[in-house]
Amino acid sequence: MSSHPTSESINTTISAEELHRIEEMAAQISCPLPISENEKADLMAEISRLLTQQDAVLVAHYYVDDNLQELALKTGGHVADSLEMARFGHDHPAQTLIVAGVRFMGETAKILNPEKRVLMVDDEATCSLDLSCPIDRFSQFCDTYPDRKVVVYANTSAEIKARSDWVVTSGIALDIVRHLRDQGEKIIWAPDRHLGDYIQHQTGADMLLWGGVCVVHDEFRSTELQQMMKRYPDARVLVHPEAPRSIIKLADVVGSTTMLINAVQQSDAKRFIVATDRGIFYKMRSVASDKELFEAPTAGEGASCVSCGHCPWMAINTLHKLRELLLNNGKSIEIDGKIVEKAVIPIQRMLDFANQRDVDMKIRGDA
Ligand code: 13P
Ligand code: SF4
Repeated sequence: MSSHPTSESINTTISAEELHRIEEMAAQISCPLPISENEKADLMAEISRLLTQQDAVLVAHYYVDDNLQELALKTGGHVADSLEMARFGHDHPAQTLIVAGVRFMGETAKILNPEKRVLMVDDEATCSLDLSCPIDRFSQFCDTYPDRKVVVYANTSAEIKARSDWVVTSGIALDIVRHLRDQGEKIIWAPDRHLGDYIQHQTGADMLLWGGVCVVHDEFRSTELQQMMKRYPDARVLVHPEAPRSIIKLADVVGSTTMLINAVQQSDAKRFIVATDRGIFYKMRSVASDKELFEAPTAGEGASCVSCGHCPWMAINTLHKLRELLLNNGKSIEIDGKIVEKAVIPIQRMLDFANQRDVDMKIRGDA
């Protein structure tokens, strides 16, 4: 078997028609309208009271609405990338965790905290990567290559995690795959083919790739990005590795959401072109208000109506829905106990690896 993914392996995982259907689904979601400052202040005050009364804490991803990020920070919650979201929920004493993000983030929190109540601000919020990887077909694919370690991105269902050996997020994927490569392991990677391609390229590991994509990052356009780079020659280009190779090739920094935020904060540059969901601008502006940020272009030849640079499923998380959830004792996430038992193993493996990595970095003086 070649160390590079063959087109055959990609074609047997998910078809172009299925990817198109998922893209259509995303395009049909209507994004909520902005609210006034007065309405925001009233909602924030009421929700803060309800969170305290219900011993609940809000954990938000960098891509959700600015108001939810602000509220999470004001009420002692957390705003983070998917790796840190998982760690925070695990360590926090609150009995109820409320996740502002997408379903896999809520499921991961539940798997790590089965005794807690875990709620989603909107439980319809899914992810195109999760949708692109149905358990039956994925399981069959894995059965065909029993000699390979199964490494899955966190953006997957609890069932897929339960079928895996390792769960990874974009913040730790390179280190874990390097570790597996050094042990001589061959890998099945799912579901994001762009992230898989990037990791394969960086590590030289023997990886078979599933064919899913993120509908948001897949829309960045290299020709338009090159034009923008000519207009702002002093700008650094920051890219999330869910973007296609043609975009990654143009990047000064490639990394998880946290790594991109750190790059804005720590770099001497004053301008940045950012190829990831524009929800991240809220945090980037709060850590580096003197820097200028530009959204990497998505429109152009071949672009579709999902190409606004904002994840439609992240966008459906709102203050209004959070208030309703708390007032109406909203439905908590439930996952079959047997799935939880299996899925917690590869997630915990990732968290243990991340903790050890942090210790090693401190010893080396890198942290
Ligand atoms: P991060 O883990 O980098 O926050 O990414 C999660 C995600 O869904 C990006 O689209
Ligand atoms: Fe999934 Fe992409 Fe949305 Fe992230 S931005 S949650 S990968 S659809």
